[in-house]
Amino acid sequence: MLVILIIGGSASQKLAAKVAKELDDCLCPVETRKFPDGERYIRFKEKIEKEVVIIQSTGYPQDENLMELLFMLKNLKSLGAEEIKVIIPYFGYGRQEKRFKNGEAISASITADLIEYAGATELFSVNLHENKVTDFFNIPAKELSAMPLIANYLNKVLEDPVIIAPDKGALNHAQKISSILKCPCDYMEKTRLSPDTVETRVKNLDVEGKNAVIIDDIISTGGTIVNASNILKEHGAKSITVSCVHPVLVEDAILKIFATGVEDVIATDTLTSQVSSISVAPLIADALK
Ligand code: R5P
Repeated sequence: MLVILIIGGSASQKLAAKVAKELDDCLCPVETRKFPDGERYIRFKEKIEKEVVIIQSTGYPQDENLMELLFMLKNLKSLGAEEIKVIIPYFGYGRQEKRFKNGEAISASITADLIEYAGATELFSVNLHENKVTDFFNIPAKELSAMPLIANYLNKVLEDPVIIAPDKGALNHAQKISSILKCPCDYMEKTRLSPDTVETRVKNLDVEGKNAVIIDDIISTGGTIVNASNILKEHGAKSITVSCVHPVLVEDAILKIFATGVEDVIATDTLTSQVSSISVAPLIADALK
């Protein structure tokens, strides 16, 4: 069997190690550090094979993680790699997929161009905020869903849940989970007033005495979840659990969420965080088989 070299960027080292273990593949040691002036240094400490996989999320610090990914890609190409599969579990800059105001940079498209230019031959990402991002690539690009993993986890820790989407955008995720768990699902209406302020409304929410689970793709400032949790409490939910794929968690987001009375926050390890209790390693490993 061909053993593939797995390379973990500094944002996804533990996840890369888990994927390598799932696949019985070899994890390439990488020296990555910064010069005193802040510029990045990269060195692969293993002989580079023709077929390699890089795993690197491009969350905060986005520019550094993206630059490191580009350095790794170009370096792999010049060291002889021919097939370079890139796994970006959390795709930073993936939220601006169009020009909302004249003159704006379409950052998702530019990021895709850079990754492709640097040498990626195939791309995988997990629950893209805008699925249109895959269309920006000319190489095969696939979005993986962590929802079945989240559903399996919830199934083990909660009885008779009701799944709540905190806005219409998260409804397809909530429906996916509720169809796996065979339980009810509902949603809230959200209007974003500013990057860190949202307004949330509901119609007839039936959560009285129930174990409510809020499902979203991303928790960033936590504003969306704080509003949803407060509303669930007002409507008499017995318990409130929160789950998301990408724990971006700006500043004290986690504290603000727990302060509303939430029992637990359960996220995946597309980004490393204190609530990343579900690993997407099996999902990525399956995609690579
Ligand atoms: C929005 O459309 C997303 O699905 C999330 O709801 C959003 O990114 C969460 O942001 P925040 O935590 O800042 O409210």
